[in-house]
Amino acid sequence: MDFKELRKEYETQGIDDSQLDANPFVTMQSWLQVATDSAPSHWFESNAMTLATAGTDGIVSSRTVLLKGIDENSIRFYTNYGSTKGKQLAENPNASVTFHWAWLGRQVQMRGSVAKTSREDSKAYFHSRPRGSQLGALASEQSTRIESREQLEKIRADLEAKFDGQEIPLPENWGGYALTPQFIEFWQGRLDRMHDRVVYEKNGDGVWQRYRISP
Ligand SMILES: Cc1cc2nc3c(=O)[nH]c(=O)nc-3n(C[C@H](O)[C@H](O)[C@H](O)COP(=O)(O)O)c2cc1C
Repeated sequence: MDFKELRKEYETQGIDDSQLDANPFVTMQSWLQVATDSAPSHWFESNAMTLATAGTDGIVSSRTVLLKGIDENSIRFYTNYGSTKGKQLAENPNASVTFHWAWLGRQVQMRGSVAKTSREDSKAYFHSRPRGSQLGALASEQSTRIESREQLEKIRADLEAKFDGQEIPLPENWGGYALTPQFIEFWQGRLDRMHDRVVYEKNGDGVWQRYRISP
């Protein structure tokens, strides 16, 4: 396959400054809404984002996680605190997330600092998930080496039997993270690679500044 020949023009209207709110979270809510409402297929997860983290050794890793909450200054996702990302975030709370809504020619990037959400928040979200997902989270020491698929299935089956008819407890090492961005970039693809890039950056007083950057 010749990837050099894979070329696409982004024929979108671009970003109209008059439609941008002073608060990037208002703009983000609106872009998420458009992405969700216009998703070209039921399987597409408009809340999927690539999360990049790095530990103190400087080694960067990235993976997809799902956005599960957004408020006026942070976005939330849930995971295993002992996973690779969890260990890296414990060492270095700086992280970046990227959303890509290919059919809209849109991308959003956020950079900021991550902190664990409260135990109550994690409990509430954990118990809102299907029972099977709760068991899966309890069974999985995420990102650690396992003997085999069978070993994992057995751990899960044992837990299922153990908690039959009872509430599945929130695992100690599982919960939410809130990313509070200092930098948010809205990208809209346009013809001839003359894309629109609008950045919101928080200044020292915590006030959002907005400016454009070159494509
Ligand atoms: C569409 C999609 C959504 C995912 N959502 C999550 C999620 O919300 N939380 C999570 O821990 N892992 C999620 N994963 C799995 C992660 O990408 C990753 O494999 C896992 O978190 C372990 O990452 P780590 O070893 O870098 O910590 C998702 C994967 C995909 C493909």
